[in-house]
Amino acid sequence: MAVVGAVLAVTSVLVVPAAPAAEAAASSRVSGDDRYETAAAISKASFPDASKVERVFIVSGNGFADGLSAGPAAVATHGAVLLSGVGDLPAATAAEVRRLAPDEIVIVGGTGAVSSAVRKKLESLAPHVRRIGGIDRYETSRNVAEYAFAAGSSQVYLATGRDFPDALSGGALAVKNAAPVLLIDGGRTGIDAATRDTLRQLDAERITVFGGTGVLSSELVSAASAITGAKKSRLGGASRYETSARIAKAFGSSRTAIVATGRDYPDALSAIQLSAARGAPIVLTIPQCVSAETKQALSGARSLMIVGGVGAVRGLVASRAACQPTTSATSPWTMVNKKNTLRPLTYAPSDLRTVAGTNQLMRREAATALEKMIAAAKKEGAGRIKPGSGYRSYSTQKYMFNSAVASKGRAKAELGTARPGHSEHQSGWTMDVVACTTTNCSGIDYFGGSPQGRWTVKNAHKYGFIVRYEPGYTKITGYASEPWHLRYVGKALATDYKKGGFHTLEQYLDFPAAPSY
Ligand code: DAL
Ligand code: ZN
Repeated sequence: MAVVGAVLAVTSVLVVPAAPAAEAAASSRVSGDDRYETAAAISKASFPDASKVERVFIVSGNGFADGLSAGPAAVATHGAVLLSGVGDLPAATAAEVRRLAPDEIVIVGGTGAVSSAVRKKLESLAPHVRRIGGIDRYETSRNVAEYAFAAGSSQVYLATGRDFPDALSGGALAVKNAAPVLLIDGGRTGIDAATRDTLRQLDAERITVFGGTGVLSSELVSAASAITGAKKSRLGGASRYETSARIAKAFGSSRTAIVATGRDYPDALSAIQLSAARGAPIVLTIPQCVSAETKQALSGARSLMIVGGVGAVRGLVASRAACQPTTSATSPWTMVNKKNTLRPLTYAPSDLRTVAGTNQLMRREAATALEKMIAAAKKEGAGRIKPGSGYRSYSTQKYMFNSAVASKGRAKAELGTARPGHSEHQSGWTMDVVACTTTNCSGIDYFGGSPQGRWTVKNAHKYGFIVRYEPGYTKITGYASEPWHLRYVGKALATDYKKGGFHTLEQYLDFPAAPSY
């Protein structure tokens, strides 16, 4: 997702101290404009002294399969991990390889993942280039493990090769214990002959599985441990976040935790080297806030290193803001749009009050915030802002929607007025505002072009409001631009939204687009 804003604007700096207003002091962010730049920035942050790096592992930035086992292998052999396209070596990757000046480059994966053309370019950057591939991700994983852990290992970790999260957070633990992560096919009922050979060769005393029984069955784990008589254990939970939290706990206490999105793989794939450099676990998070599982995983860490941009991990995660419910109208984070209704449809808030000097209702918290915002606009010389339409009941919204259909036709009405049960006005968290002089007020249509409208765009977040429907985002919100429609979400979210350059609540809270019912 394209997000512009304060944090990404400074990504040429390698480790960016997080913006003080949005992120706690004890957090920093390593990111770039894309996955390749982020990987290069992570490598720089991990190896400020390039002489410590003997080799560079190059893995595909377009798929996770090969990179999952490359991380622990890279760390075990004093290597860095960087990403490449199939046919192109990204400039950021090439520049970082030049800085590291390795003796050897190890391409992990076949020519379908990293082409011969890329290999040719890499050959001009290091004296030795080799490729470790295989007929599939499992063979590649075995070959990588055998390359990096030829002397055997007291511990072997197993993860499913069908998805990335478990092997990513597990990779950090594997690195700490100098052990390989072997990918196996969670869909199989037994251990194949080749994996059996690799397990025999590694001859580990213990086999630990990452992930719940749903991804790697108990039978499979027993079969694996029976091969060499290894002890067996499992670090897994009901979700990728729970598994990640258990792995972080097994990692032991650490001053710092590395935090990456659990929704996609590239950032955590390259974060493994940072994990090794800082002795820090990798904790996977949902993008927008700290869930209960993640909170537990982060509880021991005094500082957080976020990898990836705000599109991947929001500032609220960096400031350890707990998630608030998005499905309950009593929460200021409630999602109400064409796909998400008030529950029940006829819902009415119980804590409404009038906003001072008007007959318009809002929830208490939002009313107080709006009064402060209106006073600030006046004090700062922006002029008078007046509440025009706040809480609307189901039946009022029904009347408004039907009137809009009758006067404008259905298509236009749908772009400007929510159906009953689908309006943020019914949640009590919203106010339409107008601009006034000392004598009179103009209609809502004039608010956007008024000094008050311009002040609101710049300042509403300080009071906990966002302009909910911006121009150009109808495909996500389902509505045309409404500069007057102010939605209360609380100061922390509104400030991070503004600083992160977000334009819809759907994107911020990681909800699907809701252009229609
Ligand atoms: N005008 C907005 C979309 C509403 O009716 O809630
Ligand atoms: Zn409105």
